[in-house]
Amino acid sequence: MSAAVDTPYWMPFTANRDFKKKPRVITGANGHWYTTDDGTRLYDTFSGLWTSGIGHCHPKIVEAVQQQVASLDYCMSFQVTNDKALKLAERVTAMAPEGINHCFFTNSGSEAVDTALKIAIGYHRARGEGNRTRLIGREKGYHGVNFGGMSVGGIVPNRKVFSAVLIPGVDHLRHTLDIERNAFSRGLPEHGVELAEDLARLCLLHDGSNIAAVIVEPVAGSAGVIPPPPGYLQRLREICDEHGILLIFDEVIAAFGRLGHAFGAQRFGVTPDIITTAKGLTNGVIPMGAVLVRDSIYETFMQGPEHMIELFHGYTYSGHPVAAAAGLATIGVYDEEGTFEQAQSLESHFEDLLHSFADHKHVIDVRNYGLMGAIEMAPRDGTPGARGAEAHKKCFWDENIVVRAGMDTLQFSPFLNSNPDEMTQSFEAVRRVMDTLE
Ligand SMILES: Cc1ncc(COP(=O)(O)O)c(C=O)c1O
Repeated sequence: MSAAVDTPYWMPFTANRDFKKKPRVITGANGHWYTTDDGTRLYDTFSGLWTSGIGHCHPKIVEAVQQQVASLDYCMSFQVTNDKALKLAERVTAMAPEGINHCFFTNSGSEAVDTALKIAIGYHRARGEGNRTRLIGREKGYHGVNFGGMSVGGIVPNRKVFSAVLIPGVDHLRHTLDIERNAFSRGLPEHGVELAEDLARLCLLHDGSNIAAVIVEPVAGSAGVIPPPPGYLQRLREICDEHGILLIFDEVIAAFGRLGHAFGAQRFGVTPDIITTAKGLTNGVIPMGAVLVRDSIYETFMQGPEHMIELFHGYTYSGHPVAAAAGLATIGVYDEEGTFEQAQSLESHFEDLLHSFADHKHVIDVRNYGLMGAIEMAPRDGTPGARGAEAHKKCFWDENIVVRAGMDTLQFSPFLNSNPDEMTQSFEAVRRVMDTLE
């Protein structure tokens, strides 16, 4: 479909009027390829939306979902549960860092983040520290679009319109993107570990005893792939420990192989108190998120009369049996196919391909870590974002590949089981497009 359309569909995070002039509509997918409504095959350089690491329509997940929907489509999520949710909680916590053995299900990353923030505040209150309500996020952080996640997040356009109604009591660490000192770093950038001291300063300003939690993405994703300087996450951990603050890693992107391990925490060797995740939990097949918490946090909630609810929070679809079945099948594939090892083995090829753009006339930075990558182009004078948007559309229409543009930064999230030749070809296509850009 390339003729202009008038549709009632209000698309998320999309320039709707521009889109409707020439819609890009996908009707099918298989493995690493999409099919559009006019039958064109497109290579997916973004694994869905960081979601579908083992490829689209994986037969094992399709089968599990089909079976589940025909045997238990739904059951009440409060006061009763289903067998698949129980099993999935076990599987996921078994993969988590030591000491993190409890799992609360949500339907998205945004819900996982807001759930985690509520758990953090509720935990301190249950310990008799109800004054600890302050939350710390980071500039350029993306934690979804609900009020909590938006407030601790640091993506300016997402916050701008809602500035007056963001939740109170939130501060931000400075972001760690430093193109001046770190441009074209391969992997973790050399400079910037001192930025972790922002947390120590906020502890001085507010007194650390008032801070409930700090939330960061181990590698910022949506802001354009910003890996942390070495030692930065370790230092946040230390400062949190000094002041009794909970450390939350938002691993909606980083978990399930994107950084070559089950969780980014394991890649960095830093264990947070709470992990939020979603996306790769079900390979994107059925929406689902999760909040994983340390035993001591869960146990703190387990007090008072036993017939009473300990956490007044939950979703109709928490632990949905079809989503949980998709999750179990997905984790089964990760195990059977050695997906995380496959992802690790692709890293250096991916890094080389990305950094081959360092000499391109429009490129001002290239960043990568694990299988997360970004090529940042200079903005055109007076029209930031235009160059990136044009690149996205030209990739789609002229080269039959789907890439993601966040303003003028092209982001890449290759399949964890990519074919290296297809990966190479997709970057050749990106280069052809970039060569045509003004
Ligand atoms: C780190 C992070 N947190 C939260 C979210 C929000 O997830 P969702 O879009 O499923 O609500 C995202 C989405 O990309 C994310 O990358």
